[in-house]
Amino acid sequence: MRVVSGIQPTGNLHLGNYLGAIVQWVAMQDAHPGECLFFLADLHAITVRNDPAVLSSNVRELTAALIASGIDPDRSILFNQTRVPQHSELAWLLMCTARIGWLNRMTQFKEKSGKDREGASIGLFGYPVLQAADVLLYQATHVPVGEDQKQHLELARDIATKFNLDTGTETFTLPEPMIGTIAPRVMSLRDGSSKMSKSDPSDMSRINLMDDDDLIAQKFRKARTDAEPLPGEAAGLADRPEAANLVGIYAAMSGISRDQVCAEFAGKGFGAFKPALADLAVAKLSPIRSRFAELMQDVPAIDRILEDGAARARALAAPTLATAQQALGLHG
Ligand code: TYM
Repeated sequence: MRVVSGIQPTGNLHLGNYLGAIVQWVAMQDAHPGECLFFLADLHAITVRNDPAVLSSNVRELTAALIASGIDPDRSILFNQTRVPQHSELAWLLMCTARIGWLNRMTQFKEKSGKDREGASIGLFGYPVLQAADVLLYQATHVPVGEDQKQHLELARDIATKFNLDTGTETFTLPEPMIGTIAPRVMSLRDGSSKMSKSDPSDMSRINLMDDDDLIAQKFRKARTDAEPLPGEAAGLADRPEAANLVGIYAAMSGISRDQVCAEFAGKGFGAFKPALADLAVAKLSPIRSRFAELMQDVPAIDRILEDGAARARALAAPTLATAQQALGLHG
């Protein structure tokens, strides 16, 4: 088993990243120590305009936030993409395997490029190919992600299959996306039809892992909901996206099912539910925030963790890159 996943160092870690991905990363690490690689996708971050000073401090902050959330650099390999040049090298080889038609179908490119598609960077268009390189480089078997990354991982499987077929080799293992069942898609607190995201201009739309207790409570209090009380079972939330989202967050944070949450709060309104949800979030997030603050006291130690992780990642990446080069007749 080889578990690989990444996160972009753009903006703050929010509850969607945490419940959709990080919680699964930690569970995989605890169940399979020594078999997991987690990285900061700084090469993905530059596909759109970025302030260099902000990017480099984001990499360190996000590293500290991941460690504070339970990623242990002794049991997992934690690094940033840039320090492992094999990611970019393999991405180029895979660019020559991936088809333009496949990339044209990627919904995230359509969303991120918006109306000015012609003005988007080639990197933004080729972004999923780099993502395929990220996982294929380590012969990943399992890739824990939120639902929004499913299409990109299906593309990684298609690229791996075509590469193996074209070269008549077994160069790449096909990675399996692992989409969590509890919080695969945490939605915005302001709009139940769009996902919670770092790029939403409204900070009230998301709970950042570093928000203080009062802000967390305020954001839940102001979260959009409807006027109905909570139903007795989760099936009763079908046409109530905002209510369903809050119940889903509660379930994911407390480790119980949506049905159990509904049973506990059946007939109560959001006036009662939201403070309970805020208390739960504060209890979960405030220890992460304090640990983060401690870790940020020693930035050189964070840099050493990233350097050490990259050295271990390079050692795993080199043989796969060499095999891929040989399969294509390249002498690396
Ligand atoms: P990113 O940085 O947008 O998100 C990191 C992880 O958080 C999950 N996520 C969510 N899950 C549930 N609800 C949400 N609202 C939510 N928002 C984000 C994402 O699904 C992801 O698992 N392209 C990737 C980074 C990446 C990567 C990779 C991931 C680069 N290479 C290789 C896996 C394997 C991204 O931008 O994730």
